[in-house]
Amino acid sequence: MDHSSLSEATMALADKVLFPTYKRAHVVLMRGEGCRLWDEDGKEYLDFVGGIAVCALGHSSPIVSRALEDQSRKLVHVSNLYYTKPQVELAQLLVENSFADCVFFCNSGAEANEAAIKLARRYSSEKYGPGKYTIVSMKGSFHGRTMATLSATGQAKVQHGYEPLLQGFKFAPFNDLQGLEETIDDSVCAVMLEPIQGEGGVICPDPGYLKAVKDLCLERGLLLIFDEVQTGMGRTGKLFAHEHYGVSPHIMSLAKALGNGLPIGAMLSTEELKSAFGPGSHATTFGGTPLVTAVAKAVLTSLLKDGWLGHCQKMGKYFREKLEGLKRRHPIVKEVRGFGLMIGVELEQTGAPFVEECFKRGFLINCAQDRVLRFVPPLIVGQGEIDALSQVLDEVLP
Ligand SMILES: Cc1ncc(COP(=O)(O)O)c(C=O)c1O
Repeated sequence: MDHSSLSEATMALADKVLFPTYKRAHVVLMRGEGCRLWDEDGKEYLDFVGGIAVCALGHSSPIVSRALEDQSRKLVHVSNLYYTKPQVELAQLLVENSFADCVFFCNSGAEANEAAIKLARRYSSEKYGPGKYTIVSMKGSFHGRTMATLSATGQAKVQHGYEPLLQGFKFAPFNDLQGLEETIDDSVCAVMLEPIQGEGGVICPDPGYLKAVKDLCLERGLLLIFDEVQTGMGRTGKLFAHEHYGVSPHIMSLAKALGNGLPIGAMLSTEELKSAFGPGSHATTFGGTPLVTAVAKAVLTSLLKDGWLGHCQKMGKYFREKLEGLKRRHPIVKEVRGFGLMIGVELEQTGAPFVEECFKRGFLINCAQDRVLRFVPPLIVGQGEIDALSQVLDEVLP
């Protein structure tokens, strides 16, 4: 059997034995290094998806490999019935570098948002009694695929067929303070939003919006939850996207790039909320194992110490200039937007054919909301790689 027929066999088997929940590209990826991936035939791909904003330090990062190897020889998992050092050290590093005072570790973005929703409800029920439980989230938002997080997600396509949805979720228009004010009633305990909507198509709010939302929350006694699952961990050129807006939340969820590909999520909050999550109130078997937290600590240390945030800002600016150049040459490009290396290019028509054309030429890109080409490469991406993709986009866009 030659290589490509091996891949065909793998893909045929996948069709048989996996749920068809994903529409996958026609490739079996075998190996990665930095921003590059290789399939079974040795064909190379330049990766501008980065595992969907996950592999910030790139593929096969020696930092990840070293932490993984060292820790796997010491201790992988013991449960949260015991203290383990990497977990505490990662929590300390997150606390020292954020608005937050305490951390709950879990395994994914959805689970971090579940924890955020539960903490907001429990804190509010303890403080105000029953009846104050509604979470207002945003139209066009994405918070995950569990029942609570899809109930909090402002996209009908994510909710379709799963009705009845959970009670206690309402939606406001994003980037519209008056619309938010009109949604808030006495049952509301928290406002939950992504500082920049990712799955919604890389939508950045106006500069003063998040500050106005925070002020409104303080005025009405509401908690503010920022879902930084996609925008966090340096993606936008700051460790957390809300830093661009000079506004901090009461609660924040993280996942994706936190473990550079190892499954880890985290929910962080201020001291005031800490006691609402007392012993037995919330838990998860795998949350914050020594293995994943040792890796996440190494990743976060590198992000902070090795200049990757500055690099991300620089490369993001360079990339956007390139894309603005494409916009001038290609009328199909409607808008270029984003922060750092979270960039969306909105097209006048569906983006799928261009994703496919780039794929054929060995470039992995992604499309959100049908018309928005989304670029979330590893933060270590270089100018040469951005040049190469820009040239291919120049060729494939009409
Ligand atoms: C903003 C945001 N929140 C939550 C999630 C869900 O994360 P996970 O897929 O790890 O559950 C995502 C995933 O894309 C996301 O972008």
